[in-house]
Amino acid sequence: MRGKFITLEGIDGAGKSTQLQWLAGLLEAHGIPLLITREPGGTEFGEKLRQMLLDRNQRLHPDTEALLMFAARREHLAKVIVPALEAGTWVLCDRFTDATFAYQSGGSGLAWDRIEALEQWVQQGLQPDITLCFDIAPELGRARSGRIKQPDRFEQEQDAFFSRVRQAYLRRAREHPDRMHIIDASAPVIEIQKKLEPVILSICGIKS
Ligand code: TYD
Repeated sequence: MRGKFITLEGIDGAGKSTQLQWLAGLLEAHGIPLLITREPGGTEFGEKLRQMLLDRNQRLHPDTEALLMFAARREHLAKVIVPALEAGTWVLCDRFTDATFAYQSGGSGLAWDRIEALEQWVQQGLQPDITLCFDIAPELGRARSGRIKQPDRFEQEQDAFFSRVRQAYLRRAREHPDRMHIIDASAPVIEIQKKLEPVILSICGIKS
């Protein structure tokens, strides 16, 4: 049986990493063979691209950013994700294409349909089975990640950027209601997990 492809999304500070660890534990406890990976990255080449893409001193045109994200993704799909799914392994991926829509289009203003064209080219209809999108107001996310509460100008600009990223995630969720689940990440971590557990087990077809 083909494995399931699960992706996790959300703006920085939404608690995605904590929930990813928890979700991995939950699936493994149910005996599911699991591969944990991330984007950008997931292959040797992809991890090199990741280093360049996340380099704070690098200012890239959004087209370049999107093209590199999809170049890394093509490798990731061909060498890691698809072979794993075909072997019956489930794939838990920290960010995927929804992040390109959110960050490169929502955040940086690249046209939505350009990303749709790249998505079609690279994925040819392949989509995650389930996407959990952790949704939080940027100010709250920033406060959560332990930084000062009163924003300076740079942080205000960042909040505006992340607010656009957030809206783009919500738009994607409206366009893909079957696979995308928006989770209110402002609630305490444990409460989110309590609510999420039965939902995940049920959509994954696992008996609790
Ligand atoms: P993440 O792994 O969440 O970073 P960290 O855990 O170090 O905070 O995400 C890496 C960054 O890459 C994040 O800021 C979002 C960005 N990103 C894009 O801009 N476009 C994409 O397509 C992807 C996958 C990520």
